[in-house]
Amino acid sequence: MKRLSLLLAAAACNQAPPAELPSPVPVAAAAATSSSVAADRALPSTWPLTVPDASTIPDGELGDAIRRGQVLVTHTREELPDYVGDGLHCTSCHLQGGTVAKAGPWVGITGMFPMYRSRSASVITLEERINGCMTRSMNGKPLPVDGDDMTAIVAYMTWLSQGVPVGVPIEGRGFAKLKDAPTPDPAHGQELFAQKCAACHGAEGQGMDTPDGGYVYPALWGDRSFNIGAGMARLDTAAAFVRWNMPLGQGGTLTDQEAYDLAAFFTTQPRPDLPGKEHDWPKGGKPRDARY
Ligand code: HEC
Ligand code: HEC
Repeated sequence: MKRLSLLLAAAACNQAPPAELPSPVPVAAAAATSSSVAADRALPSTWPLTVPDASTIPDGELGDAIRRGQVLVTHTREELPDYVGDGLHCTSCHLQGGTVAKAGPWVGITGMFPMYRSRSASVITLEERINGCMTRSMNGKPLPVDGDDMTAIVAYMTWLSQGVPVGVPIEGRGFAKLKDAPTPDPAHGQELFAQKCAACHGAEGQGMDTPDGGYVYPALWGDRSFNIGAGMARLDTAAAFVRWNMPLGQGGTLTDQEAYDLAAFFTTQPRPDLPGKEHDWPKGGKPRDARY
């Protein structure tokens, strides 16, 4: 009862919210089902993915940080050579600045952290999650969490997340894993790779580099690619990414079987190791497609 009256009081102070913000908790719905915490809060299960217009980046130092964050995630290797150990950008996988559904979008991401992860068996902050991708997907070193670069990346993600309610996942969050995973055929994946992927990613999966350390096309395996501890090194994640996003510009044209065949091929090619990987999933919960 105490909670309900607090809710009513909060709603009373909040009669005319600005039209563009999410509407407040509907009081009648909360009162009708006050036994369930989730219904009390009446959170939607997902939120539509909308990308803010670049013109909404504010002037001044905050705007400078947001723009710096955008440069860091799209030119990560070039901008952070002391921290990145491969040839990738954050946006090699989190496509178009982290704005694409089923390609690891960051819209709404600041409202999803801190969160519990079974890989570390701990509650982690957004900064720690970013450093998970720094050490694995970027095969590099963690960025100082109190440094300007990390703050800029978080400022960019916070700008992308404006208007999304805290705790509500965006539609198309993550990489949308396929429901019924087919049994993959890596030999067929190798053939498909030569037909559909090698023109950009190279016959040896090496990609095509630029002299400043960046790339025209990123590497899929070898020294310039993500390490064995990365999410993209896992079959189900890689298959989903490929199913929805590759070949670039023709996402959605491969079948589930083709995506799995391709993923089974390229995830098992040689790539950097991750020292300390044996400490992952210390309390269980290891996914079926973990590589170690
Ligand atoms: C090689 C591909 C790849 C690269 C490069 C990469 N990531 Fe990731 N990232 C992933 C995968 C895979 C996940 C896990 C998604 C899941 O759990 O379904 C992930 C998850 C995340 C998450 C959490 C997303 C969520 O919905 O919870 C954040 C934040 C993130 N990455 C930020 C970054 C940043 C910042 C960089 C660059 C420093 C980066 N990533 C580089 C593949 C990548
Ligand atoms: C037209 C060129 C092109 C083709 C064809 C293509 N890709 Fe990509 N792919 C890219 C580019 C470019 C990126 C990085 C996107 C960015 O930087 O914005 C990428 C990113 C990736 C990534 C994540 C980053 C990394 O290096 O690990 C994977 C995995 C991937 N592609 C797999 C494939 C597979 C499998 C195929 C074949 C079905 C394929 N791609 C076909 C251009 C292409």
